[in-house]
Amino acid sequence: MPAVTGMRALVTGASSGIGAATADVLAAKGATVLRTSRTITGPSSFACDFAVGVDPLVSWAGDVDLLVLNAGLGHAGPFADMAPGKIAELFTVNVVAQLELARALLPGMIARGRGHIVLVSSIAGAMGVADEAVYSATKAALRSFADALRLEVRSVGVTVVHPGVIDTPFFERRGTPYTRRRPRPIPPVDVAEALVAAVEHNRTEIFVPSWLRFPARLNGAIPGVVRVLQRRFG
Ligand SMILES: NC(=O)c1ccc[n+]([C@@H]2O[C@H](COP(=O)([O-])OP(=O)(O)OC[C@H]3O[C@@H](n4cnc5c(N)ncnc54)[C@H](OP(=O)(O)O)[C@@H]3O)[C@@H](O)[C@H]2O)c1
Repeated sequence: MPAVTGMRALVTGASSGIGAATADVLAAKGATVLRTSRTITGPSSFACDFAVGVDPLVSWAGDVDLLVLNAGLGHAGPFADMAPGKIAELFTVNVVAQLELARALLPGMIARGRGHIVLVSSIAGAMGVADEAVYSATKAALRSFADALRLEVRSVGVTVVHPGVIDTPFFERRGTPYTRRRPRPIPPVDVAEALVAAVEHNRTEIFVPSWLRFPARLNGAIPGVVRVLQRRFG
């Protein structure tokens, strides 16, 4: 079981929500934690705008044992009403920058014969969510990437995390509040603890809360039925 104690970890999107909680849990378990986001959060943090590029971040980070690709932004609303440029922004920050970072740091992991990459996707990456077509597509891209990379690189662990509704500034930042009564938002530390446990147990995929695996699996097995249920219950 790979303990995170002593690992050198880089967490993207570490200034807030799930990323901040994950960085804190890793630090509490004895990992050396490097944090990145556009906001500086302390001495072991580096300001990087993923809409611009990751090269300076790669140079600053050096060798990394655990890469948590968590930074992301949401968008909700009718697809046809999306502002020009928004699709590119979502894919650049949620997908392109995360994969560029993985591409840059993976060779070091392979050379050392160890390492772990975590991709924070979403339940929206495992099944479409109404009014979140492009966001869902970015999160599904992370899952597909992980499934393929896992087959290609055996010496490096690859874990996909699918959070459900988490109580973070994510909804406020995307400009559309979460208004449904259920599922109720859960604290980001729940995702952080599940994520770190998934690394420690080298899990390929987790859902937080764990019951979300059932609609996701059902969607894979009988998508037609799930479509009917989603149209009926949202
Ligand atoms: N909250 C939920 O319900 C939920 C559900 C499923 C999946 N997720 C996913 O979980 C991840 C974390 O979200 P969260 O809920 O913790 O949201 P959050 O509190 O809004 O945190 C998002 C993080 O991403 C960083 N970020 C955003 N744009 C960036 C950019 N252009 N360059 C660099 N960093 C950027 C933010 O830092 P700065 O603004 O300081 O740059 C922040 O640290 C995201 O990938 C999100 O899609 C969230």
